[in-house]
Amino acid sequence: MSIYQATASAPVNIACIKYWGKRDTKLILPTNSSLSVTLDQDHLRSTTTSRADPSFEKDRLWLNGIEEEIKEGGRLATCIREMKRLRREVEEKDAKEPKLSSYAVHICSRNNFPTAAGLASSASGFAALVASLAALYKLPATPSQLSLIARQGSGSACRSLFGGYVAWEMGSSPDGSDSLAIEVAPQSHWPDIHALICVVSDDKKGTSSTSGMQRTVETSPLLQHRIKEVVPARMAAIQRAILARDFDAFARITMQDSNQFHAVCLDTDPPIFYMNDVSRTIIALITEYNRVSVANGGTLKAAYTYDAGPNAVIYAPKENMKEIVAMIVKYFPQADAFKDPFQLFGAAGVEGS
Ligand code: PMV
Repeated sequence: MSIYQATASAPVNIACIKYWGKRDTKLILPTNSSLSVTLDQDHLRSTTTSRADPSFEKDRLWLNGIEEEIKEGGRLATCIREMKRLRREVEEKDAKEPKLSSYAVHICSRNNFPTAAGLASSASGFAALVASLAALYKLPATPSQLSLIARQGSGSACRSLFGGYVAWEMGSSPDGSDSLAIEVAPQSHWPDIHALICVVSDDKKGTSSTSGMQRTVETSPLLQHRIKEVVPARMAAIQRAILARDFDAFARITMQDSNQFHAVCLDTDPPIFYMNDVSRTIIALITEYNRVSVANGGTLKAAYTYDAGPNAVIYAPKENMKEIVAMIVKYFPQADAFKDPFQLFGAAGVEGS
């Protein structure tokens, strides 16, 4: 008897140009394009095993050992359904292929970091889910094609199908067929940028990205300005900065975009606060660190960015990281949760089948 099982893992990605706002909530089509860096190493990853078996009665999923309901018409159900549809195409082309698309699947996923604490667990989670089903079903799909499906699980997940520097192009088609992730540059193009994650709090976040985005789209005039007047130019400029390995420009745009994302949250009615006093202190520290460098004729040396939570991600060239960690530890001597600097990069790699 054959066993049909595959495991894949995917890392977290942290956006430099933030996705915030949906123009289609069912298909998860964004109101602006976004760009992120996929983190490497083992610290922030989801690892997912999928198994198809004729004896399974229904699709089931366990997240960190606890069973999650797969709601009909929900995001998990959509991703599984779409992956089975792609499998059927394989089976229709080759009659010898086992009819896995007709079997139920059992899926087991683990995050090695706190879930839903603004550390993008849904991004790595849905990317690993889609990657594991793609491996199970032996799909000939490219990462961009898989990103179309991961996007329907969680928007930012589409970017975790690639390592390195990744853009999610918002697209214009109403069916979402051109709203996908593309590689801007592989990690090897600019490998010496590292990311330091400062876990300010690992509590579950107060306002989910889904409800926060919806409220922002409905109430924030600043968001309308951002998506029309600001993001398109920033997307072009940060891609130029990455291709030119220009950290000064990369850092400036990354910090500006984090600031505007949080301004848009504040412009939401009622307002949404994701950062706390520690987050703001870290902004002040990085700002001062950069100010001194520029005053001495240098360039920006670090960039902070914050997602929908209080945790800081600091991007910096590797050679500055020791100094940055020392500075943060000096200001927060009680800090025990600051992780090692992570090297960037990582892809949704299939680990076995
Ligand atoms: O994909 P979601 O629904 O978890 O939204 C992610 C939103 C941000 O992390 C705040 C920004 C981004 O582009 O990742």
